[in-house]
Amino acid sequence: MRDNDNYTQEIDLSSLPAGTDLTDHIRMMEVLNRYGLPLDPFMELMAEYQSAAMQVEAKFRVLSTLLSAHAEDNPIETIKTRIKSPDSIVSKLIRQGDDISLASLEERIFDVAGVRVICSFIDDIYRLQDLFLRQDDITLVTRKDYIANPKKSGYRSLHLVVRTPIIAETWKKDVYVEVQMRTIAMDFWASLEHKLRYKKDIDPRALAHVNQELEASAAASARLDQRMQDIRDEIKRITGK
Ligand code: GTP
Ligand code: MG
Repeated sequence: MRDNDNYTQEIDLSSLPAGTDLTDHIRMMEVLNRYGLPLDPFMELMAEYQSAAMQVEAKFRVLSTLLSAHAEDNPIETIKTRIKSPDSIVSKLIRQGDDISLASLEERIFDVAGVRVICSFIDDIYRLQDLFLRQDDITLVTRKDYIANPKKSGYRSLHLVVRTPIIAETWKKDVYVEVQMRTIAMDFWASLEHKLRYKKDIDPRALAHVNQELEASAAASARLDQRMQDIRDEIKRITGK
């Protein structure tokens, strides 16, 4: 089961009516209380993940600035950063076993901090990946290339789990960050598919057809990406840049 995917939720929070933050906070305290997780250390840990995500986001912004200055094309369309909600963190810990503690959270959950990088073309993804992984303070933990090998659902993206050091006054710590790299077409498909899948009351017989349609639309979006890439290559051949 996929956990909740709240990149968009994070952006929307600031525009929600007054009082929502309080509700979220109460909800979080309830979840933490239920599983005996201490509030203050949990909040400190979340601040570390937030910092690690900001650090990784900054690296991509720097790369984007340098590459645009040099080649007059910006390889990044958007960057979105999110921290996993306490609900999703606890659900994932439960799915993985019975040790619901901050220590197992730190050891076993690699996607508390998430950075999604939306690129213009497929080759931008691999170019940025190489430059990103070449940096001294980024250590690659896992790499899943769902562009070369799409998931059964049709999902495509390049996933990297990395560690990056966070440095405070008295300590230094390596923190996991999940980076998802995709084109606009991949992001378009993933966002809509996510919305559609969460309509839970689909008759199982109808679901097979819905899945087929989603796979077919993923294939169409992959063809579109390839076509745009081919056009880019053609223009490069003509103009030499
Ligand atoms: P998680 O427990 O969900 O993190 O699974 P995992 O550790 O096996 O990671 P995986 O490589 O499957 O990718 C996790 C993340 O990729 C999800 O949280 C989603 O953001 C995204 N993702 C993976 N598969 C799909 C999919 O079929 N559709 C959509 N829309 N997103 C997906
Ligand atoms: Mg995840």
